[in-house]
Amino acid sequence: MKPWLLIDTDPGVDDALAILMAHRHGRIAGLSIAAGNVGLDRTVANALKLCDVLGADIPVFAGCPLPLVRAAADAAHVHGADGFGDTGYLPSRRIAASEHAALAMLRISREHAGEMTIVALAPLTNLALALRLDPTLPQRVPRLVVMGGAVSGRGNTTLAAEFNVGFDPEAAAIVFGAWPRLELVDWELTVRHALDFARCEAWLATDDPRARFYAAISRKVRSFSRARGRTGLLAADALAMAVALEPGLVTAGEERHVAVELDGTLTRGSTIVDWERRGSASANARIVMAVDQARFEALVASALGAIA
Ligand code: RIB
Ligand code: CA
Repeated sequence: MKPWLLIDTDPGVDDALAILMAHRHGRIAGLSIAAGNVGLDRTVANALKLCDVLGADIPVFAGCPLPLVRAAADAAHVHGADGFGDTGYLPSRRIAASEHAALAMLRISREHAGEMTIVALAPLTNLALALRLDPTLPQRVPRLVVMGGAVSGRGNTTLAAEFNVGFDPEAAAIVFGAWPRLELVDWELTVRHALDFARCEAWLATDDPRARFYAAISRKVRSFSRARGRTGLLAADALAMAVALEPGLVTAGEERHVAVELDGTLTRGSTIVDWERRGSASANARIVMAVDQARFEALVASALGAIA
């Protein structure tokens, strides 16, 4: 049976690939939208456009326009000013639901109690608010898969911080402090599991509306990655979605306590892992350390229509 998914997302080019994967292999109960890669107005518009591309009436809920405490810079330099590669796409005529994302998350968790995975692909502002409104949320949600953090301090937005945690560290601290055992797909895992450019471009050449759309919106990110000397496309959210869709493709993991630094001049937003188990706090995260690359790529290729 395909899993029920609630996806918290800031589309975002790699978010878009994750959502294509979720539509192909899962059942999407809703998209709760965060600010992050670009502003909330754009991330909502991008989510609605993706529903057009999929021809799917997926509920879209706008969330918080700002981080909980301190303002943070977006990632438009990577994803484009519009968050989707500045292709100038024709906007969707769909509209987002009027319900706030945090409230929708709580309602949907009650409607799908015990059977839903939350896949957090954005700064954790919406999820943190939901947890503050209803601390019993984890009891109804068997799995939370988080794309975030850099478990050995190799960040992507600052030297030590990964973007989703670094954009709203207070929200991340709330989520990591409240969830008993989340599954963590961090930036360093993403780098280890890059998608080979040549294979990606072969998939994107498929005569399929999903491949055509993704080829267009990812052009800027692919150029950016090549210019940075990357060996392949780094699709963090797609990797997290693969773990959510097929837990069995995880080939190595570590259970550890993960905390979020809030105050360090150089380290704010970094994820601090108790690797030596020296602290008193018990593990709150299953850190994914390796996945089956072939199975990851099969989920991506099929989401683009490149394979069955
Ligand atoms: O650090 C990678 C994360 O930041 C991904 O979720 C990507 O979409 C960006 O938001
Ligand atoms: Ca994202």
